[in-house]
Amino acid sequence: MEQYPNHKINYSVAFIKMALLFLLSALSFGLLAALQYIIPGFGRDTFSFEKLRPLHVSSAVFWIILGAMGSVISFFRQHKRRKLKNQFWIKVQFYIFTLSFGGALVSYCFGIFSGREYWEFHPLLAIPIAIGWIVFIVNFLSNLGTLKNQPVYIWMWFTGILFFLFTYVESNLWLIPAINDNLVKDMTIQWKSYGSMVGSWNLLIYGSSIFLMDAISGSKKYSYSNLVFALYFLSLFNLMFNWGHHIYTLPTSLYIKDIGYLVSMTELFLFGRIIYLWRSSVTTAQKYFHIRPYRFLLAADVWVFLTLGLAVCMSIPALNIYMHGTHVIVAHTMGATIGINSFLLIAFACYILGKKKNGNFFKSKWIDIGFWVINISLVFFWISLIVAGFIKSHWMFHQPDVPFGVMMMSLKPWFISFYISGCGLFIGFCMIIFPLLFNHLLRDENNSFFKRKENHNLKEMVLD
Ligand code: HEM
Repeated sequence: MEQYPNHKINYSVAFIKMALLFLLSALSFGLLAALQYIIPGFGRDTFSFEKLRPLHVSSAVFWIILGAMGSVISFFRQHKRRKLKNQFWIKVQFYIFTLSFGGALVSYCFGIFSGREYWEFHPLLAIPIAIGWIVFIVNFLSNLGTLKNQPVYIWMWFTGILFFLFTYVESNLWLIPAINDNLVKDMTIQWKSYGSMVGSWNLLIYGSSIFLMDAISGSKKYSYSNLVFALYFLSLFNLMFNWGHHIYTLPTSLYIKDIGYLVSMTELFLFGRIIYLWRSSVTTAQKYFHIRPYRFLLAADVWVFLTLGLAVCMSIPALNIYMHGTHVIVAHTMGATIGINSFLLIAFACYILGKKKNGNFFKSKWIDIGFWVINISLVFFWISLIVAGFIKSHWMFHQPDVPFGVMMMSLKPWFISFYISGCGLFIGFCMIIFPLLFNHLLRDENNSFFKRKENHNLKEMVLD
């Protein structure tokens, strides 16, 4: 990677560092929100669940978006083998996103919400976010050159970046009274845009995964292969049509829902298979040199198949009625955003932040232990939510005489297990986040220390 003068900030890396801070925020607010499952009403006067949930969910979304953006910019720079043009505008992009995302979290603390799900901040903040994304598009396109003979990850980034803006604008169409006044129209557009937005950031993350796989194996075999281009076209199709499975409860045609569901499952399957096949092409030496990014890629692969398994169960009508609107859905969403998105982003962060100046990876027992802590915790976390969801549905359908309070008491052991495994996730992620941040900080500090010494010696020599 290109060296930066010690007084200058490398903004492609700054995106990843900032993303890690949002991950820390997601974990902290997640734990506080989960505490309210065990002690209902805990701290309600200062931080109610209605505030903690958006603080947690938005922090998680910001972590994914900033992490994906930072990975694209860092890997794009490595692909180009030169510093990107428009450094000033990359800096502008960084500050626009950091300030708007930070502003959204602060506004939640003051009780300012839009009332929408997931993007719950005031619609005024959508303006800087859309402008920031346009700056991202300009920064990407001005460095792109031609699309001819480009590897698949360039196509994925290119498409993902353009579609994100489109779907983001779409998700704000509710501000138009004619849409807001029509519930079905409003909900359909909302879920369609959210589904496509996830599809767009998945393209950024999949593209970065393919880049990383090539970088580890030292060949461009995968990024030009037919299988990966098939994944690209499927993801593109999915991005446009996967929303079908987000609108089950709305009165739309059945075939739209079926196509959406089938395509999103095929996409996950293909992505999982690509990592699986790539694994066998990596030599032992390459694997050991890149051990941390490699491990996280593999862990994400396991979670791709676990998420697929749960999704297959959800597609069986007899099981679906027990899952809809319960903690099983939360397990599905968090399983995917932690096990797939976050693990892949951590793999990129380990690759981008985890290297010394000489190109070797630094050693950290903390990160290695953290890897196992989050994986084991996530299994318990996921199972606890699924079981809690099923118990609640069983009560709804088969135990109408049992009072709500009694049912909630029977959920308590599962909520406690959810909370304890959530603490495990918090600790495990901290064991990764802090060494990554500090290693980079110390590396830059050492660099400036040596530079200062060098300059000092130089001055002394001149004086002599
Ligand atoms: C990388 C870490 C995490 C990510 C990316 C993440 C992501 C998410 C997402 C996307 C949702 C919305 C789910 C939905 O609406 O279906 C959610 C909800 C939630 N998460 Fe997390 N989460 C993370 C870690 C945690 C941790 C460590 C805890 C603590 C135990 C936690 C507790 C919660 C709670 C309590 C909810 C609200 C569920 C409800 O509405 O009842 N999360 N999280």
